[in-house]
This record gives sequence, C-alpha cells and structure tokens, in this order.
Amino acid sequence: MKQFFVTATDTDAGKTFVSCAIIRAFTHHHNTITNKVMKVAAYKPISAGCELIDGQLINEDAKLLSEFANCDQSISHINPIAFEQPIAPHIAAKKQNEQITIADIKINYLQVKSLNADVTLVEGAGGWRLPLGPVSTSSQNNSEIKNEDNKPTYQFLSDFVKETDLEVILIVNMKLGCLNHALLTYETITADGLNCVAWIANCASSDPMNNLSENIFELEKILPIPKIAQLDFIADVDEEGNDVSYLEKINRTAKKINLSVLMK
Ligand SMILES: Nc1ncnc2c1ncn2[C@@H]1O[C@H](COP(=O)(O)OP(=O)(O)O)[C@@H](O)[C@H]1O
Ligand SMILES: [Mg+2]
Repeated sequence: MKQFFVTATDTDAGKTFVSCAIIRAFTHHHNTITNKVMKVAAYKPISAGCELIDGQLINEDAKLLSEFANCDQSISHINPIAFEQPIAPHIAAKKQNEQITIADIKINYLQVKSLNADVTLVEGAGGWRLPLGPVSTSSQNNSEIKNEDNKPTYQFLSDFVKETDLEVILIVNMKLGCLNHALLTYETITADGLNCVAWIANCASSDPMNNLSENIFELEKILPIPKIAQLDFIADVDEEGNDVSYLEKINRTAKKINLSVLMK
C-alpha cells in the first residue's frame, strides 16, 4: 500500500487536475504494473470554497476526486473539513470561531487509510506551507501558545504530512517564477525530513510559458528527483471545435504519467 501527498508550487497549479490523472492512471492505464485493478482512495483534508447543496458543503476538488477514486467514498469522507468561502482555510475557520487541528486531520486521514486501498492519494491545499492557525493550549480556554518572540506558534498542513510520513509529489506550474518556487518548495519538503519522490511539470494556463523546454530542462538538472510527467495545457475546445470534457482531459493526461517511480 502506498500513500502520497500531492503538493504544488502554489494554488491553482493543477493539484486536483494532476491528482485525478494520477488516480486515473492507477485505476485504468497502468494495471500492468500490478496486473490487477488498483483500488485508490482520495483524501482532501481541508477545503475552502464550497457550494451548499442540501445542507452539505460540497467542494469542487472533492467532487472531482470522488469521480476518479474507486473506493466508494462519500464527498464528506474525502473532504471532512470544508469552509464555504474561498479564502485561506484557517481564516475561514477563525471567522466561524473554529480551529483546524492536526489531530482532526489525522483522525480523518486514518478513516480513509482504513479502506486499505492500494494507493491513498492526499491532495494538499494551497502550497506546501499552508497555515492551519495558531496552536492553543486547549479548546476550553483557547489561549495561544507563544514562541520566544512572543508570537503565536503556528501549525501548518505540512506538520500533518510530517506526522504521517507520506511520500510527496510536487506539481510545478510552469510559469515565470516557477524555478524559484519549485526549488524552495523542494528544499523545504526535504528540510522537513520528508521524501519528495517525484515532480511533475504542468502547464496549468492556456498562455504558454516562454522558453518552456529550457525551464523544464533547468529543473531536471537541479532537482535531484525524477520528473514523472510533462503535461501540456488541454483547452476546453479542440482544434476541430469539439468540446473536451474534464474526463477526456484527465484520460489524456493520465497516459503521460510514469507511475513506475511511484510504485517503488
Ligand atoms: N494541464 C492542464 N490542462 C488544462 N487545464 C488544466 C491543466 N492543469 C490545470 N488545469 C486547470 O487549471 C485550473 C486549476 O487547476 P487545479 O487542479 O484546480 O489547481 P489546484 O488544485 O492546485 O488549485 C483548473 O480549472 C484545472 O482544470
Ligand atoms: Mg485543488
């Protein structure tokens, strides 16, 4: 059984898109690795930006992940902590007098892990160092623990990854500035003591980056981990004027992912 955490250089870098494609690759296109249909469970620990449907907050990422994972999970099983407003999750939590805790994120993760899927894929939120808010002494008095600079001690989503020791996959959104963002993110994941096993070059924008191949080549030279896919931007309408569905985009993308590195 393998467990991965998908992070990225930033929000909107393609974490959900690529996560769906990785799941699709495991469940449909690369069964030859294990010679059986692989079971994949998905987990989106926190989301902010949801639609209220029949009294339930539905996040689009969780919905998409549920369409590709194959362990019969409900949306709330995939994404138990959800906020309506599309803002930083810990700020959304604070507005509701709530606190996001690593303990809850871990309990919810263990629920997903208990499905015993061949692969559990966890999609992060934002980038690597997503704040969860200040740590408090207890939920009763809610007093913040201060550090030596008399500032509140913060917890981050990356602390959950540290505690669960998930293998990390880094999505790099290929745009100007991505070399810096990719290297900083990789260095920080490694400095946090985690295993960043692979990176993926993703073109998340219809506006192609100047000197794309040179930039990919630079990252290949500097990052000491394998690049397991180079993904083009796929437009909503193809050259013949036909609509391209999300499923079609994911199917095409899934075929480009080299899963063998992830199965080691
Ligand atoms: N390679 C791609 N081709 C086409 N659209 C993409 C690609 N990568 C990302 N997108 C689109 O870009 C937007 C942001 O991607 P998303 O996966 O939601 O990012 P994140 O999860 O990191 O916030 C979404 O609308 C997604 O469908
Ligand atoms: Mg997402």
